[in-house]
Amino acid sequence: MNAADITRLTQEALEEVRLAADTAALEAVRIKYLGRKGLLPQLMKALKDVAPEERPEFGRQANTFKQEVGAALKARGQELGAGPAHTATLFDCTVPGQWRGLGSRHPISQVIEEATRIFHSLGFTVADGPDIETEYHNFDALNTPDDHPSRDIQDTFWLETGELLRTQTSPVQIRVMEKQPPPVRIIAPGRCYRRDTTDATHSANFHQIEGLYVDTHVSMAELKSDLTYFARQMMGPKVNIRFRPHFFPFTEPSVEYDFSCHLCDGRGCRVCKNSGWIEISGAGMVDPAVFSIVGYDPEAVTGYAFGMGVERIAMIKYGIHDIRLLYDNDLRFLQQF
Ligand code: DAH
Repeated sequence: MNAADITRLTQEALEEVRLAADTAALEAVRIKYLGRKGLLPQLMKALKDVAPEERPEFGRQANTFKQEVGAALKARGQELGAGPAHTATLFDCTVPGQWRGLGSRHPISQVIEEATRIFHSLGFTVADGPDIETEYHNFDALNTPDDHPSRDIQDTFWLETGELLRTQTSPVQIRVMEKQPPPVRIIAPGRCYRRDTTDATHSANFHQIEGLYVDTHVSMAELKSDLTYFARQMMGPKVNIRFRPHFFPFTEPSVEYDFSCHLCDGRGCRVCKNSGWIEISGAGMVDPAVFSIVGYDPEAVTGYAFGMGVERIAMIKYGIHDIRLLYDNDLRFLQQF
């Protein structure tokens, strides 16, 4: 074999590449010429038997062979595999796309966002606290006695560290007052945990929105008017609220508060169980003992606090009859919001 043979073989190889009709045929050509047992390694082996004066030209032709055939294989490969003509058969840009939907916010998130917007307009900012709380913040600092039933292991998820999963968002009140002097005007939305057996109205984890307003002359009248404003913004302009006397260790006086039923305007229906009222949660005037615990002067400031159950509001606002629907992640349910 001499240099002229290589030139001829190069032309043959280039012709074969050009004629390869598909990628399989092209691969066969590549193996034949550049493969491990193909022509190129043979040329390299033959080099040592070539007469010394012919060697440089032989080497040059072998190199040209390798480069030209290599480049041709690559170019033809692109034509066959990824070239525009081929792409057009795989990708038809006129076929309508598949709409996967944008999704929507979960009803619990919607209630929290709407409540945040409403309280924002009353001058409240959003505060945050940990889901894993100390016994001190969840109970002691909230003036809750040692023997209070809510501290029971039956009711609270205790961790081995002595900490617990917060049973209410009220500990955020303490954390905020520990950090800043009065005045305070915050809401604290978040997750809470109780050892409840799950049924249509109970879930072991649920959400509350806490509210706290402390200043030099906060009164119960403000509590009532702010909650009324909230109720009307959230549920509709005709809704009223009522206070019922109650007890919470961290407020004095304490109340439970109800919204008048937004569906029947208080006349009585299935949703309000014919009472015309729907129970929301608790509220009251911050107990002076709590002010003393966080280092506020109970003679100088007054404050109101409230909690509200987010699931409860979502259920009555959207007519959801079973709390478990909020946690099942069933798209047939969630797509309605
Ligand atoms: N933390 C109470 C509960 O989970 C609700 C509550 C009542 C919050 C009175 C308050 C309040 O801030 O003042 O039942």
